[in-house]
Amino acid sequence: MSTTIEQMNRVSFDADRIRADFPAATRTVHDGRRLVYLDNAATTLKPRVVVDALAEHMLLGASNVHRGLHYLSERATEAYEAARDSVCDFIHAAAREEIVFTNGTTAAINLVAHSFGSLLGEGDEIVVSQMEHHSNIVPWQLLCERRGCVLRVAPIDKNGELILDAYRDMLSDRTRLVSMVYVSNSLGTVNPIEEIIAGAHAVGAKVLVDAAQAVATRAIDVQALDCDFLAFSAHKLFGPTGVGVLYGKQVHLEAMPPFLGGGDMIASVRFEKTEYNRLPYKFEAGTGNIGGVIALKPAIDYVSAIGFDAIQAHEQDLLTYATDVLRGHEGLRLIGTAREKAAIVSFLVGEVHAHDVGSILDQEGVAIRAGHHCTQPVMEFFEVPATARASFSIYNTREDVDALSLAVRKVEELFE
Ligand SMILES: Cc1ncc(COP(=O)(O)O)c(C=O)c1O
Repeated sequence: MSTTIEQMNRVSFDADRIRADFPAATRTVHDGRRLVYLDNAATTLKPRVVVDALAEHMLLGASNVHRGLHYLSERATEAYEAARDSVCDFIHAAAREEIVFTNGTTAAINLVAHSFGSLLGEGDEIVVSQMEHHSNIVPWQLLCERRGCVLRVAPIDKNGELILDAYRDMLSDRTRLVSMVYVSNSLGTVNPIEEIIAGAHAVGAKVLVDAAQAVATRAIDVQALDCDFLAFSAHKLFGPTGVGVLYGKQVHLEAMPPFLGGGDMIASVRFEKTEYNRLPYKFEAGTGNIGGVIALKPAIDYVSAIGFDAIQAHEQDLLTYATDVLRGHEGLRLIGTAREKAAIVSFLVGEVHAHDVGSILDQEGVAIRAGHHCTQPVMEFFEVPATARASFSIYNTREDVDALSLAVRKVEELFE
């Protein structure tokens, strides 16, 4: 039996109890080894409540939304729109019209790059940082090719922190959009997002926040942040893959042309002229991932019941402990030592290639990510081809950090 939200409210933070809600977190791998899942920045495991909601829709209610008048379609539409209300509350948007469902962060950023981007022209500047995920670089490069805009890159320092002064110097009346990551997936850096947004607004630029990594680790209030757009993926928030959210201030979404054309995004279609649907449907062409959207709601309910104060305290404890333990390994190099970090630790073990580290750890049951983490400019900056990355979540414990450390010791022994 999985824990109900009411039960969650009653218990204080208890990683072991949470773990029991995530069947994958209690499984074994490689003939009986306990799985130590430390690849949460890639995707989180899913609690039963999320899978149950998805399965219930697929098995009992697999209907399309907004179109049918029959019982199943009405129930699916209610659940789909309830998920929108839930996202709206979760990020404290001013109106549900500001919540657009996409298939992920990447799709949400591409939507803005195409739609908002179509309002930009020759010489208009877009500012990103050197620590962006490829999905917050390539859409802007494509836009620059299409519209003659200029992409500017705010630098980072050797700790993996944004150099704020250099960022501010880059802003001018030519800056139209700043698109920046809140929490870096390869360095763990938590960016000073309020200052980034204030700087951009001071020159009249709009701001898109890539909250892919931030969304599961901290409370997000888009009105307090005053960001213009914000993107995240459900699968990094204990929800299903193939679902994401684009938040956009209503005034911007109204002014932007549709991105994809098709069913559901129209009010009327004639060959002479097509009228578009109202927000947010103008940006939701075609049949979306209905079951996935519906299952995002229990994921939000789940984290909300635990609460971000408790989540942050737990993850910061794991971060501090993991950083100390890994620092105890002679020859291990940490990549990303910002003052403000989420529970993501990138490292190199001596001269051993990160892929070898990842494979050896895997044999010990420790799942991490090894590679460039879709942040090749970060790797280039630190002059490494790849890093090993351990990323922690609500079901991880100090015991998992100890297992990581023991597995790293194995790597050291093998490459002595
Ligand atoms: C910071 C950041 N931005 C964007 C993305 C892209 O997310 P998705 O693949 O879910 O679209 C990721 C995924 O790892 C990420 O970590």
